[in-house]
Amino acid sequence: MKLWGGRFTKPTNELVDEYTASIRFDQKLAKYDIQGSLAHVEMLAKCGIIPESDAKTIAKGLKVVGQKILAGEAELTEANEDIHMNVEKLLIDEIGPVGGKLHTGRSRNDQVALDMRLYLREALVTLSQQLVEVQQALFTQAKDNLDTVLPGYTHLQRAQPVLFAHHMMAYVFMFQRDVERLADSFKRVNQSPLGAGALAGTSFPIDRHFVAEKLNFDGICDNSLDAVSDRDFVIEFLSNASLVSAHLSRLCEELVQWSSAEFNFVELDDAFCTGSSMMPQKKNPDVAELVRGKTGRVYGHLIGMLTTLKGLPLAYNKDMQEDKEGMFDTVETLKGALALFAPMIETMDVKKENMYQAVAKDYSNATDLADYLVGKDLPFRDAHAVVGQVVLHCINEGKFLLDLSLEQFQTFSTLIDKDIYDVLSPKAVVNARNVAGGTAKNRVEEQMTKAEKLFENN
Ligand code: ARG
Repeated sequence: MKLWGGRFTKPTNELVDEYTASIRFDQKLAKYDIQGSLAHVEMLAKCGIIPESDAKTIAKGLKVVGQKILAGEAELTEANEDIHMNVEKLLIDEIGPVGGKLHTGRSRNDQVALDMRLYLREALVTLSQQLVEVQQALFTQAKDNLDTVLPGYTHLQRAQPVLFAHHMMAYVFMFQRDVERLADSFKRVNQSPLGAGALAGTSFPIDRHFVAEKLNFDGICDNSLDAVSDRDFVIEFLSNASLVSAHLSRLCEELVQWSSAEFNFVELDDAFCTGSSMMPQKKNPDVAELVRGKTGRVYGHLIGMLTTLKGLPLAYNKDMQEDKEGMFDTVETLKGALALFAPMIETMDVKKENMYQAVAKDYSNATDLADYLVGKDLPFRDAHAVVGQVVLHCINEGKFLLDLSLEQFQTFSTLIDKDIYDVLSPKAVVNARNVAGGTAKNRVEEQMTKAEKLFENN
């Protein structure tokens, strides 16, 4: 007999049981379901809704059921549909009919919203900590590479040299915003829906604030319809997770490129690469590729949930059971990626000399020649045209700017003097970007000091 079987005259079709059950995936919520029930039952007794002795029996029974589920010793069935009814059924099996008092003044609708929030709250803390570890790894690479110059790219064409530390810090700031977004979303997750009942509240004299405090919530959801029917906190998480994934994925793409023979800028540690079953020479950056690849499923879950919620009338609809798998999968996907990411970055070998050569044997100092001419009062547009001619000449001759003699320079512009050789060296080019947020070494150090301050609040 189903817990809700009273008004039915036949059993449910077996396929319906299988189709509507969520126990396969929502058993992940067992721990939070029990946690919520313990707070609820304590409140029921405190408010005089059930006797204290019954509450004690129920609480004891709930703990036993919780232990059994976690130990894999409890039988969870599709006939009992979801984690909430499975727990209630197991409780009644454990302590008898008094277990039936647990659900007083409560619905699965507020219960499931509570479980989701308890689960997500914990996940947000873990993910933030993991993101901070990734930041630390990037920061350490930045510290070790304050003198490492590499080409900066636009359109994946060499553009202007930058410090590798500057490049690492770009990601540090992206992940900083991710950490801040998760922290900000925590406030909205951390509101208790319990007491909203099925949709309208309850006729029992419950104390919603007591339950909220017991469960360390900041407050309660102010409207019972809203409490049971919105999943914006899930969508907000999926959206924030999508941005984390986007940031990870862009870095992964760079790691994949940089570890190719064509770039040869970094070597990922053997411990974070895999080989080929056929080609003995191969060392593949599989982890970076897979993190990049899994971005697709995270985005998918975001779009999936946005679409599921769209058009649902208030309040609860069974459609909302679809909120779980995407959220769980996103949490697991990110946890997996972040756990690997910090050590992969930390152990990455940065090939400083190869990076330097890519700058030295290139025209990415052309802007500096133009800026030099501007310093001699030539309008920038004219300077741009002159340098374009110099570069074209060099390309035709198989030379770089620093290979030209002063006489050759002066055939393009008599404004050029022998101090040009200092101006065009990679180090000088980098340090010339001495603007707040720029790539000059002192400016990158400034960024790092700023970042360390931001870390203090994480
Ligand atoms: N398993 C359900 C879900 O995840 C729990 C809430 C069910 N409520 C209901 N009225 N059928 O959404």
